[in-house]
Amino acid sequence: MIKTLREERTNFCPEKSKYLQDIAGVRWSCEGIAHYLVQGKNQATKALNVGVVFSGGPAAGGSNVVAGLFDTLKVIDKSSNLIGFLGGPIALVNGISKILKEEEINQHRNQGGFHLLGSGRTKIETENQFQSVLKTITNMKLDGIVFIGGDDTNTNAFHLAEFLEKNNCNCRIIGIPKTIDGDLKSDLIEISFGFDTACKVYSEMIGNISIDAMSSLKYWHFIKLMGRKASHVTLECALQTQPNVVFIGEEIAKKNSSLDDVVNVLVETIEKRASLGKNYGVALIPEGLIEFIPEVKILIQECNRFLALGKGIESLTERSRACYDKFPEGLQKQLLEDRDPHGNVQVSKIETEKFLSYLVAKELEKRNSQTKFNPVHHFMGYEGRCSFPSAFDANYCYNLGCSSASLIRDGLSSVMAGFTNLSGEVKNWKPIAVALSSMMVEEERKGVHKKVIKKALIDIDQPVFQEFLKRHEGWKGGDLYISPGPMQFSGATKNLISKTLQIESMAKI
Ligand code: FBP
Repeated sequence: MIKTLREERTNFCPEKSKYLQDIAGVRWSCEGIAHYLVQGKNQATKALNVGVVFSGGPAAGGSNVVAGLFDTLKVIDKSSNLIGFLGGPIALVNGISKILKEEEINQHRNQGGFHLLGSGRTKIETENQFQSVLKTITNMKLDGIVFIGGDDTNTNAFHLAEFLEKNNCNCRIIGIPKTIDGDLKSDLIEISFGFDTACKVYSEMIGNISIDAMSSLKYWHFIKLMGRKASHVTLECALQTQPNVVFIGEEIAKKNSSLDDVVNVLVETIEKRASLGKNYGVALIPEGLIEFIPEVKILIQECNRFLALGKGIESLTERSRACYDKFPEGLQKQLLEDRDPHGNVQVSKIETEKFLSYLVAKELEKRNSQTKFNPVHHFMGYEGRCSFPSAFDANYCYNLGCSSASLIRDGLSSVMAGFTNLSGEVKNWKPIAVALSSMMVEEERKGVHKKVIKKALIDIDQPVFQEFLKRHEGWKGGDLYISPGPMQFSGATKNLISKTLQIESMAKI
């Protein structure tokens, strides 16, 4: 067992027993429900057997979902069982699991990490896998399974629920919105858990680096931030820290900006600051940026296609070859050698921060610039996923866990547990269940039309991006850095929520 210094035990819910009674008796406001099983409301006192599984990348607060689920199941009936599936969704296929006990749960309350059960990225999507899951459900007499995951996991949870319904299986399927990337959201699901914490951890580090930059006076810091596709994390951290240059992938795509355009923004800012006597600065680069730049996107698509056919770079089109040639040797290797299990380029492993600073240095040389340019590279990713959850995530997750138990008790299936009014005090949050079917869109995946939950990318016409846009130009020449310092667990600022949630909730009023 990993020991940590955080001692609190559900301190975020001081009125725990009262709260649990409330939640056990809550009348669900079920918005947008078009597809769910109602098994009647008379099962409130029946002991329940419920499974829980973590899926995908860790996000802070996951163990509080399990704790909330466990506590509520025990309130419903002391002999209820919570079964943890080990190592991600594949465990539902092979049945590898353990019954969770109070003592073990207690060690994980308010802690970071998914190590209570482990996680995995195997998708449960084939007929054979569904049949095996049905066997597991039947053998273990499961009344429900709670999937803690992102868009892919909840998509697969939806298809599993449909399969179970067709096979007259009453096991309820509940989804929990998880991902630090913040791209699993809708009008009703205001935010995924883990986003708040990850952004606070990164913003603390960006703030420290910014202060170092204006102390040392000699480095340009190129910081790549996690976020597989969407740039929500970068946008939030930018609003929290006010660095000099920020790229938002969705804006690049909308403007159809080229690689040269991106490099020019950097070069011009670096030169402008140098003319003010500032040979230092901070640039934020979202992990997914590279795929939003049209010519790089095409290059990656061609690499995926040709390498799958066993062909080499000689097969690239002229335009893609020109783009490929811009990459330094080491990064060319990352394009060709690092493949994911599906044979695709591992975009998240490409060191975009180094690529951009390399292109900047070349451009400065081409312009015969006298500007001193000393880049330092950072990648902020894994360090934000398993930190202690922020007060917001600790609360949100615990409540999501409580909700999912109540939803199972009330016979709802194929729904995502959620809360509205998240920018207010916890006591004013409103539990909701959102039909997974209401979140589905049709997309072509591997040549087949499939219902999927679409990743929620940044809408550059919406208030959060617009707020950033208003302020970004002023950050370029100035030293308007904000260093928010470490996340707080007590005192006046412990309940500060993300800027994203603040701005979005203000816009709704
Ligand atoms: P989830 O969407 O599964 O929560 O994962 C998000 C993420 O942290 C991305 O930001 C990142 O690109 C990816 O996981 C890294 O994946 P891995 O953990 O497999 O290295």
